[in-house]
Amino acid sequence: MIKLTVNGAERSFDGDPDMPLLWYLRDEVGLTGTKFGCGQALCGACTIHVGGTAVRGCVTPVSAAEGQAVVTIEGLSPDGNHPVQVAWRDLNVAQCGYCQCGQMMQAASLLTDTPKPTDAQIDEAMSGNLCRCGTYPRIRAAIHQAAGNPPKGTAPAANKGERL
Ligand code: FES
Ligand code: FES
Repeated sequence: MIKLTVNGAERSFDGDPDMPLLWYLRDEVGLTGTKFGCGQALCGACTIHVGGTAVRGCVTPVSAAEGQAVVTIEGLSPDGNHPVQVAWRDLNVAQCGYCQCGQMMQAASLLTDTPKPTDAQIDEAMSGNLCRCGTYPRIRAAIHQAAGNPPKGTAPAANKGERL
């Protein structure tokens, strides 16, 4: 019997301990925000947090989550207003949207570890999350916004209206 929490709720699972967490979350728990893309840890669509770390649910067995806190996009915030989610909405990051739950989970993990990431740090942290729609510039901008950094090319708020 594997015991874990999913988005704060205690759960137990007595099925195949080698089942990928992605399938457990989608098929057993009914949380379908986490997506299947490649099944080989190559695209990031299935990114979730286990014990506070971003992992690929498609290649992580349920047994690896024994005693751990698993968080999915549905549990990233109580009301959908995690700074990453707010920034994603503000900047209309999503195109088709398929990759975006994984993108946000990876971005949230980055900001936990590196609250004010540089472009290079963002690109490195997000390099394993693919987007077939090419939303990478908006993803990067949204991460900067979520980190509290002003968008590039704009003056700091204190200088608005002043001659620079
Ligand atoms: S589905 Fe897991 S990384 Fe692609
Ligand atoms: S928004 Fe379509 S794959 Fe990323």
